[in-house]
Amino acid sequence: MSAIQVEREGYLAVVTINRPEKLNALDHDTIGELQAQFEALSAEDGVGAIILTGAGEKAFVAGADIGGLVGQGVFRGKRNAQHGQSLTRAIERSPKPVIVAINGFALGGGLELSLACDLRFASDNAKLGLPEVSLGIIPGYGGTQRLPRLVGLGNALQLILTGDHIDAAEALRIGLVNGVFPQADLLDEVKKVAMRIVSRGPHAVALAKQAARRGTQMTLDEGLELEADLFGAISATEEMDEGLKAFLEKRKPAWLRK
Ligand code: COA
Repeated sequence: MSAIQVEREGYLAVVTINRPEKLNALDHDTIGELQAQFEALSAEDGVGAIILTGAGEKAFVAGADIGGLVGQGVFRGKRNAQHGQSLTRAIERSPKPVIVAINGFALGGGLELSLACDLRFASDNAKLGLPEVSLGIIPGYGGTQRLPRLVGLGNALQLILTGDHIDAAEALRIGLVNGVFPQADLLDEVKKVAMRIVSRGPHAVALAKQAARRGTQMTLDEGLELEADLFGAISATEEMDEGLKAFLEKRKPAWLRK
C-alpha cells in the first residue's frame, strides 16, 4: 500500500506521508512516490497550492528510514543522498507554491524536506532538528546547504553540529518556520494561508516563486535581469489584463487556470 495519500479540496492538494507507525520515516520507495506525486501535481492546471503533512499526531517525518542506511558504502550512500536531493529539488522547482504543515517531529530528512518547501508552519508540539551527527552521518538531503541559507550560518551550525532538537517557539524565533499554531488547528490554518495564495493570479504566483528561488543562486545584477524578464513575461498574459481590469472595475478577478 502506498505511504502517500493525496486529497483534493478545490484548488488545494493535500499530500500526507502515511507511515505513522514509523513516525513517517522516509524509506527509498516513499521518497520516490513523493517525488512522483509532486511532479504530477505540478503539471496540473487545477492545482493552485500543495500542502505537505504527516499522518498522526506525533510526527511530520522523523527522518530518513535509518534501517535503509545501514552498510550503505560510498556509492549507495551517495545515491541515497541524491535520491532525497532529487525530491527536494522537485519541490523547489515546482511552479506550485508548496506549504508544509509540520505536525510534530521534523528530524533529519523530515526537516530537510521542510526546508525545500516555500512556507513552513509548525504545530506547538513540534520538535525540529538535524540529529545526523549523533548517528555518525551528516545531513544528505540538502540540510547543510538550505539551513544556512534560511536561518544564517550561526543558527544552522548550532543545529547541524549539536544534533539538538529545538521546539516550535525557538524555530519561529530563528526564522526556521513562518508561524506556529495549536496542533488541532494547524492544518486548517495552513489551508487558510494556501487559500490566500490560491486567490492570487496563478501565473503570477508561479513566476514570483521562480524569480525569488532562482534569484538566490545569482548575483544581484543577474537576479534583477531575471525579475525584469519574468515581469515582461507576465505582462503578456491574459492574467495581467484580468488582474488590472478587475482592480479598476472594483471587483474580484476571475483567473483563467490554464
Ligand atoms: N527511521 C526508522 N524508524 C524510525 C525512525 C527513523 N528515522 N524514527 C522513528 N522510527 C521508528 C522507531 O524505530 C519505532 O519503531 P518500532 O516501534 O518498530 O520500534 C517507531 O518509529 C516509533 O519511534 P520511537 O523511537 O519508539 O518513538 P519515541 O517517541 O520514543 O521517540 C524520536 C521519537 C523521534 C525521538 C525517535 O524515534 C528518534 O530519535 N528517531 C530517529 C530520529 C533521527 O535520528 N532521524 C534522522 C535520521 S537520518
